[in-house]
Amino acid sequence: MEAALGLVFGVDSQLIRDGTYFVVEREGQIIGCGGWSNRKTLFGGDAMKTGMDIELDPKRDPARIRAFFVHPAWARCGIGCAILERCKKAIQLAGFRSVELVATLTGEPFYRACNYSQGERFEVPLANGLTLPVVQMVKQF
Ligand SMILES: CC(C)(COP(=O)(O)OP(=O)(O)OC[C@H]1O[C@@H](n2cnc3c(N)ncnc32)[C@H](O)[C@@H]1OP(=O)(O)O)[C@@H](O)C(=O)NCCC(=O)NCCS
Repeated sequence: MEAALGLVFGVDSQLIRDGTYFVVEREGQIIGCGGWSNRKTLFGGDAMKTGMDIELDPKRDPARIRAFFVHPAWARCGIGCAILERCKKAIQLAGFRSVELVATLTGEPFYRACNYSQGERFEVPLANGLTLPVVQMVKQF
């Protein structure tokens, strides 16, 4: 987890600039976050970006679901589902017909419960020869 922090588990500030990243607050504290994207990048924070993050074509490409994190004290309270539902509305409004994401293994049961299908499994290289196992997940609207 430490090797993934900052690189894979980091802020993609493009989502904030695009206004497609949401937070859930309680008494002034952020307890959950997650978003969607109409850009090509599938996962990772600013540290993983190499160049321009090009815009996708809603008629041809799947939108992205990005960077869902719920504070452990608030897990299984429906916050992830609520953010995902908010993203779905925005994605449909933007004209996309499908969604793709790359989930960590901890996120996989959550997306499966939300009717995402499992795609390819692969390992993201991290520092010191470590890797992070992830799984591609997809959904048609
Ligand atoms: C994955 C995560 C975002 C889910 O958020 P959440 O607010 O806890 O999810 P919800 O409460 O909306 O869960 C909805 C449903 O998903 C399924 N689900 C969620 N977490 C699950 C888990 N750990 N194991 C099995 N099923 C799970 C359940 O069916 C759940 O419904 P239920 O609680 O009524 O059984 C959150 O647990 C998290 O931040 N995990 C660590 C970071 C991470 O893995 N992020 C995903 C990166 S791609």
